[in-house]
Amino acid sequence: MNDAVMERDRLDCRMVNTAKRDGDTGSMGETLSLSCYDVFKSYSAKGGLVLHGVSLEIDEGDSVALIGANGSGKSTLLKSLVGLHPVDKGKVRVLGRELQDGRLEQDVRRQIGFVFQNHGLVQRLSALSNVIHGRLGFPGSWRAWHQSIAPEHWRQEALEALEAVGLGHRAAARADQLSGGQAQRVAIARALVRKPKLMIADEPAASLDPKTGMDVMETFASIAARSGTTLIYTTHDMAHALRFAKRIVALKSGRVALDVASANLTEQELQRFFHEA
Ligand SMILES: Nc1ncnc2c1ncn2[C@@H]1O[C@H](COP(=O)(O)OP(=O)(O)OP(=O)(O)O)[C@@H](O)[C@H]1O
Ligand SMILES: [Mg+2]
Repeated sequence: MNDAVMERDRLDCRMVNTAKRDGDTGSMGETLSLSCYDVFKSYSAKGGLVLHGVSLEIDEGDSVALIGANGSGKSTLLKSLVGLHPVDKGKVRVLGRELQDGRLEQDVRRQIGFVFQNHGLVQRLSALSNVIHGRLGFPGSWRAWHQSIAPEHWRQEALEALEAVGLGHRAAARADQLSGGQAQRVAIARALVRKPKLMIADEPAASLDPKTGMDVMETFASIAARSGTTLIYTTHDMAHALRFAKRIVALKSGRVALDVASANLTEQELQRFFHEA
C-alpha cells in the first residue's frame, strides 16, 4: 500500500459519524443548527445528480469548513440547505424547522446571514446603504432600501457592523469605489446586521490577496465565535479551513468524503487528502 493510500485510510478512521439522530439534539445533547439526511440534488434530468445522499449534522455554535474540488457540489449543498435550490430527495432541518417543498420559511431565513463570493453589493449605493440591505426581509423592510429612509437605530447598527469589520471610515463610500477586500467586508457587515444564528458563506475570502483573505477570515470567524453564531463556509484554502473551523467536511463528487475535527489534522494531511480526493 502506498503512503497516500495509507494516509487516506488513517484519515477515514477519524471520520465523524454522521449517522441519523432523531429530533434536534445531537448525541452529546447539543442543539442542532442544521441537519440533512440523504440529500439528493440534480439541476436537470440530463445533468445528473450533483449531490448523492449527503447527510450532515451541525451543532449550534459550531464552525464548519466545507472543502472539495471545483464542481464537487459545495455551493449547491449550501444553497440546498437554505432552500435556495430545492432538493430532489432528503430531509433538511434548519434552526429547528424542516424545509417545506424545498423552501425555508421567511422567519427562519431572517435568522441566517449569507455571504456569497461575488459580494452582491449594489454598486452605486454607499457601503452604509448596502449594509442596511441586510435588513431586507424583516418587517418594514422597504425602509432598508436606502440609508436615508432607514430608522436611526438601523443606521446605527449598520455603522457598528461596518466598524466591526474595520470599515467605519468608509461608510459613505460607494460600493464601486471599494477594493475587493473592502467589498467583501461590507458583505460580511451586511450579514452581521441580521444578528444571524447561522452564517453561511461561500468562499468568503476568494479573490482576495493572501493577507487580506486571512484578515477577512479572522474578522469573520472571530465575530461569529463571539456571538455564538454557527458558521459554515466553503474554501479552497486549507489554512483557512484549519484555522477558522472546528470541523472540516470534504465533498467528493457530491458525497461526504471526510468529516473530521480540524484539531486532528495538519495542513499537509489535508492537502494530501484534497489532492487524492
Ligand atoms: N444553476 C446550475 N444549473 C445547472 N448546473 C449547475 C448549476 N450550479 C451548479 N451546477 C453544476 O453542479 C455541479 C456542482 O457545482 P457547484 O457550484 O455546487 O460546485 P462547487 O463545489 O461549489 O465548485 P467550485 O469550487 O468551483 O465553486 C457542477 O457540475 C456544476 O456545473
Ligand atoms: Mg462553489
